[in-house]
Amino acid sequence: MGFVLGIPASADPAERRTPIVPDVAIKLRALGATLLIESGATRSANVTEHDLGEVTWVPSTREVMAGSDVVWTIGPPDAEALAALRPGSILIGTLAPFADAGRVRQLASDGVNSFALELLPRISRAQSMDVLSSQGAASGYQCALIAAARCPKFFPMLTYAAGTVRPARVLVIGAGVAGLQAIATAKRLGAIVEGYDVRPETKEQIESLGAKFVDTGVAAVGEGGYARELTEAEREAQEAKLGKAIAQCDVLITTAAVPGKQAPLIVSEMVVNAMRPGAVVVDMAAEQGGNVFGTVAGREVRVGPAHVVGPVNLPSRMPAHTSEMFAKNLYNFTAPLVSEGVLAIDTSDEVLAGTALTLDGTVAHPLVRRVLDLENPPPPPPADLPTTSSEPAASEQPAEAQGEA
Ligand code: NAI
Repeated sequence: MGFVLGIPASADPAERRTPIVPDVAIKLRALGATLLIESGATRSANVTEHDLGEVTWVPSTREVMAGSDVVWTIGPPDAEALAALRPGSILIGTLAPFADAGRVRQLASDGVNSFALELLPRISRAQSMDVLSSQGAASGYQCALIAAARCPKFFPMLTYAAGTVRPARVLVIGAGVAGLQAIATAKRLGAIVEGYDVRPETKEQIESLGAKFVDTGVAAVGEGGYARELTEAEREAQEAKLGKAIAQCDVLITTAAVPGKQAPLIVSEMVVNAMRPGAVVVDMAAEQGGNVFGTVAGREVRVGPAHVVGPVNLPSRMPAHTSEMFAKNLYNFTAPLVSEGVLAIDTSDEVLAGTALTLDGTVAHPLVRRVLDLENPPPPPPADLPTTSSEPAASEQPAEAQGEA
């Protein structure tokens, strides 16, 4: 008994992380896995072939995909790689589930059982599998470092022979995992830090890090503990109150996101133009459209008086630790699928069901179906029943029940 676990090289040449590290390779072998890895797939994270022990190394992505029962990936494989997967094989990783309807359709029609870790339910039992949290923490940390490196002021208060310079003022908008880590990092560097989020419970979390909560009076909690989209009136109220805090800060870090949607535009052109001369903005939401007017993903641009940075793939900047964290999250997700070396998918398991993107030839996730406008053809009715009902099945109910607001 046993199974083959494959790891292809990333389809993105800029990706430096790898989903396998030596400790996890040992644990996988104990689980009954034989490792099949594309040569070079781990190099940019400084994981050598020697470090990983007994592995079958192959020269192409196609060989990994065609020869594996389970494939681990950071980022979605390209179409050619996906086409090489065997029907019934299991693909686990960050798969950008809302980005490409064609890709999701292909996975379903090829009979690949895929699990997109971006969809993982944010419940206690799933915390050890949560790549959004582990990689988000790295992103928030990086945002604070990027901001400190570009800021024309010291972050800490500094006393020198001729006097004292005042610490920089940092405002962090969006206090999820990444935002809280940005706040903690900016605090450690000595800045005066404020934080803001639409989820009221973040007030206590922000304050516990020694930062001040900016209260706009707008609360917008959606399903699944996530924020929901704001109404126009809420957005205006938010802008009026936040505008003042933004005008007074030296550094603005934005991390706000709503699942399955473009990032909310929180900082308008007028508000950026009112920032201090030389202010630095790091917009972590750049890849999802940005929280700040003028942000360009992957570029640093000047918007009015501010220097606006739109970083992409921040976790890839520190691949040693983010690979280790990612690999452990993947292991914790995969281990419960294996019993005595045999793979089985228990769809009654809340974590597996919530994370499933495609299962048994169908697009399994209701929010993905809704956002990408993918409806599965209904199953054929039993021959002896009439075919009058056009009601959607419970699993196809609108995304409101699945975390979208
Ligand atoms: P995220 O990446 O989805 O969003 C980042 C932050 O932006 C969130 O805090 C959100 O409230 C905020 N936001 C959205 N729209 C906003 C707006 N218009 N203005 C200001 N802020 C806005 O968040 P993340 O870090 O993925 O966390 C999402 C939720 O999951 C949180 O409730 C968090 O506490 C929870 N969580 C639960 C875990 C667990 O129990 N396993 C683990 C990690 C997070």
